[in-house]
Amino acid sequence: LLVAMRYSSLGGGKRLRPMLTLAAARMLGYAGGDHVKLAATVEFIHTATLLHDDVVDESQRRRGRPTANLLWDNKSSVLVGDYLFSRSFQLMVETGNLRVLDILANASATIAEGEVLQLTAAQDLRTDEGIYLKVVRGKTAALFAAATEVGGIIAGAPEAQVGALRDYGDALGIAFQIADDILDYGGSDAVIGKNTGDDFRERKLTLPVIKAVARADAEERAFWERVIEKGDQREGDLSQALAILRRHDSIAASRDEALAWSARAKAAIGNLPVNELRDTLSELADFVVRRLF
Ligand code: IPE
Ligand code: IPE
Ligand code: MG
Ligand code: MG
Repeated sequence: LLVAMRYSSLGGGKRLRPMLTLAAARMLGYAGGDHVKLAATVEFIHTATLLHDDVVDESQRRRGRPTANLLWDNKSSVLVGDYLFSRSFQLMVETGNLRVLDILANASATIAEGEVLQLTAAQDLRTDEGIYLKVVRGKTAALFAAATEVGGIIAGAPEAQVGALRDYGDALGIAFQIADDILDYGGSDAVIGKNTGDDFRERKLTLPVIKAVARADAEERAFWERVIEKGDQREGDLSQALAILRRHDSIAASRDEALAWSARAKAAIGNLPVNELRDTLSELADFVVRRLF
């Protein structure tokens, strides 16, 4: 289990979320050391959710390598995920800041709620963009928002600035997840380090599919009912799905939404004091959608 723990927590990843916490705290003038503990907390929470998520999604690749559930098994992944979760809570308690504990504890609950909502919405063609947004806000944006917000709080920033950071993280997280969902269809395994087509196989209603289903003719509707609702997937169905997505410009329309959320993220921090780290956060909002071009 120790090996599995090292594999999951030291095995790379972009470290986006801890970077957000460090940048937010430093940007607002924090000179202490607790932001590092918070950054580590956030990344441990993230890693724990990934371990559990790969079990739930039956995924086999992450970060360009086999997932822990493939290398070991589901039992190890669940337990190591639990352990990382617990360690993350021990770490954040060390800051002694009750408000920070409140935010990170709430974010953890919200992530789980988002994953559960996604599970109940999977295989259901009635899933609309409103439900999708709720899922994404929960499973992904909640941790981005908490990561930036606690950075502001530990720095003792005024409420308006903390709120701006939270809004930035929320919008950034949504842009990030929409991009991730697009790449599950349009990306390549090598670029994303995960297997493409995972969402299709798991019969998830992600944004590109929701848009295509809304515009489906009778024949396409029958296709979606077979592969998503009935789960009767055959050779060539993923390419067929891709062709339908292209036909309705669903990928391009989803990309536009990711861009809009990215712009919203940048706008949210527009009134924060001008400095280098604010520019870094702004560039990060470009970075998460740049993979789509
Ligand atoms: C993966 O997040 C989970 C999603 C929210 C799509 P990241 O892509 O940030 O994961 P790593 O840590 O960089 O591998
Ligand atoms: C990411 O969700 C997991 C969480 C945000 C908890 P996904 O299942 O969509 O992401 P990947 O594709 O496995 O990274
Ligand atoms: Mg997954
Ligand atoms: Mg998932």
